[in-house]
Amino acid sequence: MAATNPVLEVTNLSISFGGLRAVDDFSVTINEGELYGLIGPNGAGKTTAFNLLTGVYKPNEGIIRLCGEDITGRSTIDINKAGIARTFQNIRLFKDLSVLDNVKAGLHNIYTYSTMSSILRLPKYYKVEKEMTAKAMELLKVFDLDSSASLKASQLPYGKQRKLEIARALATNPKLLLLDEPAAGMNPNETKELMDTISFIRKEFKMTILLIEHDMKLVSGICERLTVLNFGRILAEGSTSEVLNNPDVITAYLGE
Ligand SMILES: Nc1ncnc2c1ncn2[C@@H]1O[C@H](COP(=O)(O)OP(=O)(O)O)[C@@H](O)[C@H]1O
Ligand SMILES: [Mg+2]
Repeated sequence: MAATNPVLEVTNLSISFGGLRAVDDFSVTINEGELYGLIGPNGAGKTTAFNLLTGVYKPNEGIIRLCGEDITGRSTIDINKAGIARTFQNIRLFKDLSVLDNVKAGLHNIYTYSTMSSILRLPKYYKVEKEMTAKAMELLKVFDLDSSASLKASQLPYGKQRKLEIARALATNPKLLLLDEPAAGMNPNETKELMDTISFIRKEFKMTILLIEHDMKLVSGICERLTVLNFGRILAEGSTSEVLNNPDVITAYLGE
């Protein structure tokens, strides 16, 4: 069997808002190249778990390790630099920037030139800009957005805006990609296409992905392992088939 390298190791993560334990003793290990599903009904604590992983909230308890490095309590910017990128449940794009510039904004994490070379338009500035444009176009192609590169992000249809958000997150060259209900608001055709794209980028970029979904059917098709959250706590975890046959999960989902 191939060696497994944990990319994300979360142990006993918890946060309370007032008396509500929104995430309660959450642990998970995600290995390199894995597409892992985090599912649960609305209000289960899925987005809060992402907010903890990305430094939006500091946990009351628990440890988060990325590729062995303890990143618990770091700022959102530091965590992004360390290698976690995310998309949001409600799309957050630079709506007035072009599709191309949205992806280039993500690339600024990797490519740098000094403010001086940009103000003075030194050769280094043009060289880096050219490289960034080429890299961004390459990414847009993966998402079939290259022909829309010069449109404003707000001019794209909803399903394509969702894809653009993923392309921008990928541009930061993350070690771990967090997707928060990427299919929310999509029609069945767009959803199917998106799930295919997610499987593709996982293979093509050897990306490690943690995918939040409330629709069990959607994740069970593409994830090998799942964790089910309910009222902030882990209700079940394991291989997709183990989880789907877990009586607690069946009861919780039938009870919805
Ligand atoms: N900043 C906050 N302040 C107070 N309560 C919050 C905050 N963020 C989330 N919650 C609560 O935590 C619970 C889990 O929310 P959330 O993580 O958004 O669930 P999910 O993404 O699984 O639908 C909900 O009851 C929500 O109202
Ligand atoms: Mg949510």
